[in-house]
Amino acid sequence: MSKPALPGPHVGRFKDQVAIVTGGASGIGEATCRRLVAEGATVVVADVNAERAAALASELGPRASAQVFDAADVRSIERLVQGTVERFGRLDVLHNNAALSSPVIHAKDKNAIDIEFEVWDQVMAVNLRGYLAGCKYALPTMIAQGGGTIVNTASTGGFSGDITRMAYSVSKAAIIGLTRQIATHHGAQGVRCNAVAPGLVLTPGTRGAAASVIDVMQRHLLVPEFGEPEDIAALVCFLASGEARYINGQTYIADGGMLAHNPTMADLVDMAKSRKSS
Ligand SMILES: NC(=O)c1ccc[n+]([C@@H]2O[C@H](COP(=O)([O-])OP(=O)(O)OC[C@H]3O[C@@H](n4cnc5c(N)ncnc54)[C@H](O)[C@@H]3O)[C@@H](O)[C@H]2O)c1
Repeated sequence: MSKPALPGPHVGRFKDQVAIVTGGASGIGEATCRRLVAEGATVVVADVNAERAAALASELGPRASAQVFDAADVRSIERLVQGTVERFGRLDVLHNNAALSSPVIHAKDKNAIDIEFEVWDQVMAVNLRGYLAGCKYALPTMIAQGGGTIVNTASTGGFSGDITRMAYSVSKAAIIGLTRQIATHHGAQGVRCNAVAPGLVLTPGTRGAAASVIDVMQRHLLVPEFGEPEDIAALVCFLASGEARYINGQTYIADGGMLAHNPTMADLVDMAKSRKSS
């Protein structure tokens, strides 16, 4: 069987809508910007990486613009949202997606005994408070204009324990809770808030992982290959679109089935193989 094609855009689905994508200059955020523009939206590529955001916006054409901000700085998030509304007159979609991507911080994000509070605070400031701030500043506009949609990027790390990146994992679990809270408080005012929880997707942020780690993870997939950023972008855009109008407060896992099976699956498969060959 040939490999299924990557999910393609639904042309016109976001016509006349305005969207902000944080962490929009790379990986999942970049794929979401590309898809939103292809589907008719005006998109603000919001990122701490000015050069990459500007390059992507210029490549995407007149309906894309770049905005530099730092998710750790709530004032810059306020300016991002206010500037977008002042410039385009509305805000229909917010994709909260930026996450701390410093390898130095990741290396220090260990376990409850070893973690420094400063590292914990830095991870929470970007990954969690940054998402809250995006919601806080976007909600009044969305409510006043009669509705809007927020899609938060969580992670499968928010559902299961791991031997690395404890603060990251806790921040992602908290995003699942934040998503439910926003939906509960503001759903009746026309704002839907959902989350996507990707498993491993090979992006500039994850390609640096050791090949041996990637191999271990691949043994646990229930699909032939890892997903691409475009697979997550397709889910983000579905949740942000009117097609998902009856979905609110939910977190959708897109992980090739990683969390769907018994944790011992890969070991049992190997055991069965070794019995066959002996
Ligand atoms: N790729 C995966 O396997 C995977 C799995 C689960 C969850 N996620 C989540 O998906 C999201 C995107 O991940 P990705 O793999 O596409 O990452 P990526 O590293 O390719 O892109 C992240 C972008 O966020 C920007 N960014 C980092 N810190 C920022 C800050 N303080 N302020 C503003 N922008 C900032 C970076 O400049 C970069 O452009 C993250 O929330 C990540 O936790 C990714």
